[in-house]
Amino acid sequence: MPTPKETLWEMDPHTKAKHEILRRYLKAWFPILNKYNQRIVYIDGFSGPGRYKGGGPGSPMIALDVAINHRREMAGEVVFWFIDERRDRVAHLKQELRGLKIPGHFRVTADCGRFDRKLRELLDSLDAEGSRLAPTFAFIDPFGFSGIPFTLIERLLKHRKCEAFITFMVDAINRFLEHPKEKVVGHIVGAFGTEDAVQIAQAGGDRVANLRALYQSQLQRVAKFVRYFEMRDWQDRTQYHLFFATNSDLEHLKMKEAMWRVDPEGAFRFSDATNPDQLVLFEQDTTPMLVAELRRHFHGKGQVTGLEVRKYVEDQTAYLKKHMTAALRAEEAVRRLKVAPTKAGGAKRKKNSYPDDAGITFL
Ligand SMILES: C[S@@+](CC[C@H](N)C(=O)[O-])C[C@H]1O[C@@H](n2cnc3c(N)ncnc32)[C@H](O)[C@@H]1O
Repeated sequence: MPTPKETLWEMDPHTKAKHEILRRYLKAWFPILNKYNQRIVYIDGFSGPGRYKGGGPGSPMIALDVAINHRREMAGEVVFWFIDERRDRVAHLKQELRGLKIPGHFRVTADCGRFDRKLRELLDSLDAEGSRLAPTFAFIDPFGFSGIPFTLIERLLKHRKCEAFITFMVDAINRFLEHPKEKVVGHIVGAFGTEDAVQIAQAGGDRVANLRALYQSQLQRVAKFVRYFEMRDWQDRTQYHLFFATNSDLEHLKMKEAMWRVDPEGAFRFSDATNPDQLVLFEQDTTPMLVAELRRHFHGKGQVTGLEVRKYVEDQTAYLKKHMTAALRAEEAVRRLKVAPTKAGGAKRKKNSYPDDAGITFL
């Protein structure tokens, strides 16, 4: 789709799925973060006008809608910082915001300017004061790949409890990788934060996969958990890629839960390709793949605890605890798994359950 020029544009169907994930994730993020922090920040760095041509809500309205509906559970200050470089879109967003009943403890700003400049100014001023950014979720949703310098995302993620959800146009980058204009290639190098990105053009092999892996490894330098999702249309063409980078195991889990809830019968397919050896399609039967993965990891290690298995599944794979339970049940049923009859504390283990204090051996 060419970059829209009008103030409002038609929503692409694939944007809906992205919004669905954003909405679900924020439903968890706002209350969790607000519970333990006096102040939390939601940055929408490429906010758009807040509304689509057909009337559907844009990401700023979605975030506010979720937060307003959770306001009773939230006490501290919630800062919303919407940034868009287009004056007309910011003006439209401000008009949309005037129609909302915004709770007193929310601080909402719609700012006109470039995301990179605005965020750099903020981070510079915090550095100068020696202060820290409050826990922040940054939604970084550009049309293309310019204006998202990796150095800046890196600086953001270095702040405690700050995370980023990024629409990353790996396919567009691949198409522009050998562009004759230095400026275009400069944006690519900037987005990756390394010249290695352009070397991928010469290296051969699967360029898209290599670019994706490079971005993933760059994010992994600053974030403990990096998940990568690919969104394809019904003809199996990649529409966009979403990267989520966080240092929190809980938020990592919440993002995975949000992804697993995307309608498997819908027009779009999501896959988790964080581990290239373990592409996970969300509509697939998960048990055989997870069984194989667990056996690869735990077989031959003797007795391990349920906690070790759960943490492995939750932190290192695309799967959730419910998938772990199904996989362990399947393995126990064919006697390839032994579970100690008593748990670590001496209590009897309940059949078909794999609590943290269970003793589990992959045979
Ligand atoms: C994909 S749209 C955002 C859609 C919005 N996040 C949503 O989900 O409803 C990208 C927006 O970024 C704005 N934009 C483009 N370059 C920008 C930059 N460097 N800084 C801030 N905004 C920019 C565009 O005007 C456009 O409104």
